[in-house]
Amino acid sequence: MNKPLNKKNVRPEPWAVYQDIIARDRHPTPPDLLEAGTDDLGLSNSSREMYTSPAFHKLELDRLWSRVWQFACREEEIESPGDVAVYELGDWSFMIVRAEDNSIKAYYNSCTHRGTKLCSSNTHLQKIRCPYHGFTWNLNGSINKVPSSWDFPHVSEETHSLQEVRVGTWGGFVFINLDPKAPPLEEYLENLPSQLGVVNFKDLYIAGYYRKILPSNWKGSIEAFIESYHTAETHPQTTSFSDEQHTQYDLLGRHTSRFLQALGVASASFGDPQSEQQIVNSMFAEIMREKTEAPPLPDGMTARQFMADTTRTQLTEAGRDVSGMSDAELVDAMQYSLFPNMVLFRSVGFPVVYRFRPNKHDPDTSIFDMFILKPVPAGAPRPLPAEPVEMGDMRYVDIPELSDWLGDVYDQDVANLKLLQEGLKAGNTPVTLSQYQEIRIRHFHNTLRAYLEQA
Ligand code: FES
Ligand SMILES: [Fe+2]
Repeated sequence: MNKPLNKKNVRPEPWAVYQDIIARDRHPTPPDLLEAGTDDLGLSNSSREMYTSPAFHKLELDRLWSRVWQFACREEEIESPGDVAVYELGDWSFMIVRAEDNSIKAYYNSCTHRGTKLCSSNTHLQKIRCPYHGFTWNLNGSINKVPSSWDFPHVSEETHSLQEVRVGTWGGFVFINLDPKAPPLEEYLENLPSQLGVVNFKDLYIAGYYRKILPSNWKGSIEAFIESYHTAETHPQTTSFSDEQHTQYDLLGRHTSRFLQALGVASASFGDPQSEQQIVNSMFAEIMREKTEAPPLPDGMTARQFMADTTRTQLTEAGRDVSGMSDAELVDAMQYSLFPNMVLFRSVGFPVVYRFRPNKHDPDTSIFDMFILKPVPAGAPRPLPAEPVEMGDMRYVDIPELSDWLGDVYDQDVANLKLLQEGLKAGNTPVTLSQYQEIRIRHFHNTLRAYLEQA
């Protein structure tokens, strides 16, 4: 369990309040949600240069991104032999390929003759062929053809096959790692697969795939989403039905952490205490946008119970078996992160996934991919995965697969980021992190530093 924090600062402990809320739920909560755990990570500051310095950005590419397992594509994007997904990171580019034997291969997207990029976007190929002089490879990376091979006595399978990168899969996600010495993916994922098993990511498909260039360093971007401390100021419209002040933060391992945030409970930051009926009323007003009137709550029913029952009914009607699920799993925001750049929700109703990447060599911008996943309809063939939509200036509230209230929340988050990045360059005080509510960021920085210090 968590070590108690300094009582002078925090009373009662946020995680204890969250645990108290779920202890009153009617459907039993799974044991892994009854655990709470952080370490004392101290109170040290971080530097602004982490977010702004081109040299730091380069160091990250050299020592971090070259060593971590990173989510490159979904298996469904390369379903058949010859399907190719392109994944770019910094100046690197990779082809993730479904080979003839159905195995998944990943190669540097660069010709072994004179270096030309082989594939510009996701595609389907019989052979991989360089557009410049026509060097050609089989899907398994072996050489198929070298034009004028008589002129290349020094080119062989050993030296000029496509340069392979390690591949691992979990939950329908394809990960790559450039480091031959890195631990296997299974070890890297720690206990994420068991904690997220209930979502069954493997059986989901990409219903919406949205890409936005954010005006902030990739770390500033992911950090905007892994704490709830900003909610009262940035998303005040949610505090009447979401208890961000008592979000529980857990450090699960070196690469994994989570937060658990109660919904159907008003936050102290909302102001006056709210009756259960008032909580439901404001939830309907914000989430349903008053398209549907809030019903009167039956005697003795809490807003949280009402929310759990409604979600349970909706999912059951949609053909999902949620009989074994707890109220907390149906109602709360349970968000997990996988170092360095992946965020996943433990939600059967809205299993969204985020990926944040550096944008080429620019420390001031990053690429944010949002994957809106849905279950494959029962008895139906797997729908084709959605292609990425380059959002440009498009707002999140205009994404059809997102409800308006969530779209507003994302737009509010993104609106902070330009100011964040500009402000980081405008002053020189250190970046200060809170002891508890921002502990996932502190933990993220510690892991990051450990990678960077490794020569
Ligand atoms: S650069 Fe690719 S074949 Fe020449
Ligand atoms: Fe937010």
